[in-house]
Amino acid sequence: MASNEAERIAALVVELNEHNYRYYVLAEPNIGDQEYDELLNKLAVLEENHADLRQADSPTQRVGGEPTNEFPTAIHSPPMLSLDNSYSRDDLAAFDKRVREQLEGESLTYVCELKIDGVALSLRYVDSVLVAAATRGNGMEGDEITSNARTIRSIPLRLRKEGLNCEVRGEVYMELGDFNQTNEGRKLQGKTVFANPRNATAGALKLQDPKMLADRKLRFFGYWVHADTALPPAHFDRLALFRQWGVPTNTYTERCANLNDLFRFFERFEDERDRLPYEIDGIVVKVDSTDQQQRMGSTAKSPRSAIALKFKAKRATTKIVDIQLQVGRTGTITPVAILQPVLLGGSTIRRATLHNEDEIKRKDIRTDDMVVLEKGGDVIPKVVSVELDQRPVESELFVFPSTCPACGAEVVRDPDEAAIRCENPACTAQLKRRLQHFAARNALDIDGLGPAVIEQLVERKLVHDVSDLYELDLATLTDLEHFGEKSARNLLAGLGSSRDKPFDRVLFALGIRHVGSTVARTLASKFLNLEALKAASVEELEDIDQIGPTIARTTHGFFTTTETVALLEKLRAAGLRLEHEPTEPVDSYFSDKMIVLTGTLAAYSRSDAGTLIQELGGRIASSVGFKTDLVVAGDGAGSKLDKAKKLGIPVIVEDEFVEYLRQSGAI
Ligand code: IVH
Repeated sequence: MASNEAERIAALVVELNEHNYRYYVLAEPNIGDQEYDELLNKLAVLEENHADLRQADSPTQRVGGEPTNEFPTAIHSPPMLSLDNSYSRDDLAAFDKRVREQLEGESLTYVCELKIDGVALSLRYVDSVLVAAATRGNGMEGDEITSNARTIRSIPLRLRKEGLNCEVRGEVYMELGDFNQTNEGRKLQGKTVFANPRNATAGALKLQDPKMLADRKLRFFGYWVHADTALPPAHFDRLALFRQWGVPTNTYTERCANLNDLFRFFERFEDERDRLPYEIDGIVVKVDSTDQQQRMGSTAKSPRSAIALKFKAKRATTKIVDIQLQVGRTGTITPVAILQPVLLGGSTIRRATLHNEDEIKRKDIRTDDMVVLEKGGDVIPKVVSVELDQRPVESELFVFPSTCPACGAEVVRDPDEAAIRCENPACTAQLKRRLQHFAARNALDIDGLGPAVIEQLVERKLVHDVSDLYELDLATLTDLEHFGEKSARNLLAGLGSSRDKPFDRVLFALGIRHVGSTVARTLASKFLNLEALKAASVEELEDIDQIGPTIARTTHGFFTTTETVALLEKLRAAGLRLEHEPTEPVDSYFSDKMIVLTGTLAAYSRSDAGTLIQELGGRIASSVGFKTDLVVAGDGAGSKLDKAKKLGIPVIVEDEFVEYLRQSGAI
């Protein structure tokens, strides 16, 4: 009878979710993996016969998602900030002093947590059911990866309290045992191994097919919540609440009363970190009272009420097998040390950048040297020093070549920079990097144009500059090695949609030295089209807010070379957009207002805030005067804010600004 089946299904869902909770939150499982899988199978069979009875929070749904080609964008509101880093007792003492100054006279408690080396994730629950999950991305926008998040068994599909509408943020990570197992599996399949658990986690979350992710054993713990109901005022109590809801938290979390307690917590885990089943790279100290947190606010990047104290960099010694030279997109030649693989802080290091000729000379680094490597807060390890007493007698000084290792042209040393550059416009190594940049996600986002295809296109002399990409046809592409008809069509479609990308993305994709995406956007909106930009003098460029002499010089230089002029004509013929299309006049709170931005906003750079305002029909001015209609005052606003008050000009703070953006539909 169906109702009987419905009851059995509901009971199995409850039972399985209970086991998950016992395993991931309480760490007290009372059945083994095999029994769990048997129950799961039973449920799957029942659901197979009664698809209409399948529940949204059924554990069988963890592996059900469809593959995607691209993840939709998720907007974070409030933005997902990061933490300020500190590296010493003194840094932490300074933090404590700042906090106490800001909270003058108030009582203060801290919470210490482990800083787990994983990937931040946001989870949204509506009526207690998981409805969306998103990565941090740039803090403002991430990828929506809901199907992937569902495969993570420690993420509850339904919270253990009814009627909750909330956002839970936390860290996804991989335990070391699972990481090693994953890598062993990859080795057997002839795939490249992940350098560390964090990369493995990030790689898994980006998989387009959730079914592939299900067997990478990711885990989650929560560290932040926002809900539409009242929550306990103390962060520590919110973490306890998480556990009641079924959200795992890290168990090594402690309340600390003073600086000494913080140091003690830090020292304990500096010692214990190698015995933990997952990687941590420091501790996180947070002000416990969420009311105090709120009042302390945040800087552009991080809350003032929290800080990370990182462990000392780990060091390892290994041998430099070779020093190779890499030619970048703008011709800069970077020396790279090829190392005898060595394990450092949980990852295998095979290469280290040696930055430039001066760095090699200063440290006197040579092939066959034993060197000390250090991995600090960054992913990229650096060569700290050479073990001179182990240097082979026949060792020779490393001499930087006078010609480009890729094309043989004479190299040039820029007198203002340490960099040595190949200035041959026809250098194929540069061309390959330029093509990669052109196709990158934040440039023209050309699907299917990866390094392997670029290699062949350049080596077979099919592509001499980025415009040649638009001449490629199906026959030419299917002729490439390891490139079937499906890949070829995919690439042609990618090239097709690059024609619809706005002018500023085209400008960025061109790879002009020092022109990043923000500068490209400014140039596009100031000059409106290619002709005007080409005609701009260095002085006119420099006159623009945010553009200094260096950018002005390189930009002007780029647009006045004959190669560029010819290339841009070919890109025009290929149908790329070389004109800025101002957005339709909009009716918003900001329309027709002359607005001054001052101080630092937590969620937006000044230029991004300005772009949003302009898109919503407002105008930006740099100084406050009688014509000013509105001042947006961020943190640390000073004289402009004073003047606005004196003149009686309306002032809004960040929260109000964000609210108006939201009302206008911009976010
Ligand atoms: S709190 C406002 N707590 O470290 C920042 N972060 O840059 C909220 N992380 O992106 C983060 N363990 O991915 C917090 N116990 C912990 C953490 C933690 C790891 C990560 C997180 C964040 C990064 C800080």
